[in-house]
Amino acid sequence: MKIAIITGASSGIGREFALAIDKKYSLDCIWLISRRAEKLKETAALMQTKTEIIPVDLAQDNSYENIQNKLENEKPHIQLLVNAAGFGKFGGTVTISDEDAENMINVNIRALTMITKHCIPYMATGGHIINMASASAFVSLPHFGIYSATKSYVLQFSLALANELRNSCVGVTAVCPYWVASEFIPTAQDTPDGDDINNFMFITYPFTAVDKALCDSEKGKMLSLIGMIPKIIKCLSKIMPIHCQHLIWNCMRKITVQDSPQYPVQSLWQAQPDRSDL
Ligand SMILES: NC(=O)c1ccc[n+]([C@@H]2O[C@H](COP(=O)([O-])OP(=O)(O)OC[C@H]3O[C@@H](n4cnc5c(N)ncnc54)[C@H](OP(=O)(O)O)[C@@H]3O)[C@@H](O)[C@H]2O)c1
Repeated sequence: MKIAIITGASSGIGREFALAIDKKYSLDCIWLISRRAEKLKETAALMQTKTEIIPVDLAQDNSYENIQNKLENEKPHIQLLVNAAGFGKFGGTVTISDEDAENMINVNIRALTMITKHCIPYMATGGHIINMASASAFVSLPHFGIYSATKSYVLQFSLALANELRNSCVGVTAVCPYWVASEFIPTAQDTPDGDDINNFMFITYPFTAVDKALCDSEKGKMLSLIGMIPKIIKCLSKIMPIHCQHLIWNCMRKITVQDSPQYPVQSLWQAQPDRSDL
């Protein structure tokens, strides 16, 4: 049985991956994973390929064991693994709740690592792993520090894994977008200091990120940079002193960009757009 596994398929980028993979690949089944079963069912209803809904809270201890047991029982051939489940929280490290801090690490790092580790034995030549990192993986971001550090982990882990799996011809791509219009932003703002970051300029649509990521993964690229901003950030992170990077970020993050018909920054993510809306 040839399958794809997509975590975070209930919204945003993961949902777009599910819809795009459904159209692009000929698979026997696509496993959709996240907490909200109803939302996963909504994604599944838009797909032609058979789906399996796996509602799991990846922040919980050993939550990925469900997935591991299912793999052991069904022994599928995994063509694609997309690790898109993840979240961030805005605010100073001290003001972010212990629960949010721990869960960011659990979902963004621990679950991604363990799911990847358990899926690899079921992947063969031509298989591919796509891990959602972020443009923030290249830098340290005050008031988004835990999140950006988790994404640095995802980036470094993915690059090392790409090399380890080279001989088995399984590809690994770390995807690094800047802001993407999804539930990610309201989730990140839902903290005592949620307005520590207000500047969502250069925001892109989930399907823009997904189209580029799939294209880059098919080309065998280890790194998929979505648009110009991640390229600029990556470059500046190498040549600019860290205190200058922090100075720029601390000035930029507080600038609220107002909506305009030409540039609907807020309404873009509030509307949860999908490609059929455009
Ligand atoms: N949006 C951005 O600006 C942006 C930029 C760079 C990178 N990224 C990364 O891209 C990935 C996708 O983000 P997105 O923009 O699509 O955000 P999103 O719309 O909020 O989607 C996040 C997904 O992760 C799932 N998730 C969150 N916590 C979970 C948990 N404890 N257990 C299981 N699933 C969980 C959510 O599903 P449930 O709520 O149903 O569990 C949802 O499907 C994330 O890794 C994010 O860090 C996003």
